[in-house]
Amino acid sequence: MNRLNIRPTNKERLMRENDFIVSKTDLRGVIIYGNPIFVEFSGYDENELLGAAQNVIRHPDMPRALFYLIWTAIKGGSEFFGYVKNLCKDGSFYWVFIHITPEFSPEGIKIGYYSVRRCPKRSAIEKIEAIYEKMLAAEKETNIENAIDAGIQVLTNILNSTGRSYEDFIFSL
Ligand SMILES: Cc1cc2nc3c(=O)[nH]c(=O)nc-3n(C[C@H](O)[C@H](O)[C@H](O)COP(=O)(O)O)c2cc1C
Repeated sequence: MNRLNIRPTNKERLMRENDFIVSKTDLRGVIIYGNPIFVEFSGYDENELLGAAQNVIRHPDMPRALFYLIWTAIKGGSEFFGYVKNLCKDGSFYWVFIHITPEFSPEGIKIGYYSVRRCPKRSAIEKIEAIYEKMLAAEKETNIENAIDAGIQVLTNILNSTGRSYEDFIFSL
């Protein structure tokens, strides 16, 4: 199973209004739980997903910088909200509004991560897609070492022009 062998198509799968796509990972981002809707949307069998890296559903249209922001937040103990385009096994894609949180043991030790994905607003996707395209273009224009910085710079410039923080902006969409 290698997502890099999948040819992305233009076929979109739409989340239903009341769907929740849930997955849990260990501290490295290896999937240890997925609810039936996570399995359904991914197009994989549950046993293919369990033990796989969460990036098995990473879509090539997603900027690296967004994942850098996710991991910086959750490793630091914070939650993260955002829009993500995910890749299905058959090459189709689906947009989600994701909330990722660290999971702590009763002793307060971080033991993994938990994510809930909800049906995103269509109007928000149009806006965020244009932003991700700009971020990805900037990442591709530079070398791999500077790609994340380039993507973040594009996002920072857009946020500065709105006068909002990342989270305020995301919730304003
Ligand atoms: C709980 C959790 C849920 C995640 N959900 C997604 C997701 O839905 N789609 C996605 O592309 N990455 C998701 N990620 C981020 C991936 O771990 C990974 O960073 C991302 O796919 C980019 O792959 P890369 O880090 O190998 O470049 C999630 C991470 C965690 C910890």
